[in-house]
Amino acid sequence: MSNEQVIAIDGPAASGKSTIAKILANKLSYTYLSSGLLYRAITYMCYNHKITKDHFEEIEKILKTNKVTINKGTVFINDNDANKFMYLPDVDKEVAGYSSLHIVREHVKRKLREISKIEAIVMDGRDIGTVIFPNAKYKFFVTASPEVRAKRRYLDFLKNTPNNDIKLETILQDLIIRDKIDSTRELSPLQKAPDAIVIDTSELTIEQTMEKIYNYFT
Ligand code: CDP
Repeated sequence: MSNEQVIAIDGPAASGKSTIAKILANKLSYTYLSSGLLYRAITYMCYNHKITKDHFEEIEKILKTNKVTINKGTVFINDNDANKFMYLPDVDKEVAGYSSLHIVREHVKRKLREISKIEAIVMDGRDIGTVIFPNAKYKFFVTASPEVRAKRRYLDFLKNTPNNDIKLETILQDLIIRDKIDSTRELSPLQKAPDAIVIDTSELTIEQTMEKIYNYFT
């Protein structure tokens, strides 16, 4: 039986999936949830406590003793707004590594499934349509060329932190490395579910992308 409570939107970094997911959730009056934010929060906590990826017991302790929640796109760690830390360059660099760990994936899987029992959600990530909610009624796989994705992330950075000296080329290289780790890892690699609809946003505006997506809901 298909799961009507969840719309799954997967795809590589900066493909536009979160923008699409937010607009769609708003339109359908669903809640939007970024699964990546949970992985980012866990990475931030581990990194901050200097717990490396091979210290499973310590990671388990971190997962057990800290409460991570997401409310309207904002991450709270133990009730403190942690959003400003989620896209730090160190978190960007480390997140794919911590996300490859079994203990982290199982923890997030449990959490995401719990949330879906309470509310209808549009969820974006890497494995939402393949592993977390394989029965989701609607699945989209949103993609774009690496160059287009890097340019988008670069413009986001410039908008949010105008005085930084980050280079487009650095963002492109980091993004390619993260995609590689995400799509070649053993557990829940980034891949298109066989029944997912592919949306390539390389040459599309947000409006054109949404028009395409809405076609599947009419
Ligand atoms: O926004 P962006 O696409 O750059 O990344 P994100 O959705 O915030 O996800 C950050 C990282 O978390 C990804 O690069 C993956 O390593 C991991 N992730 C994952 O493994 N599985 C998911 N369902 C979502 C994110």
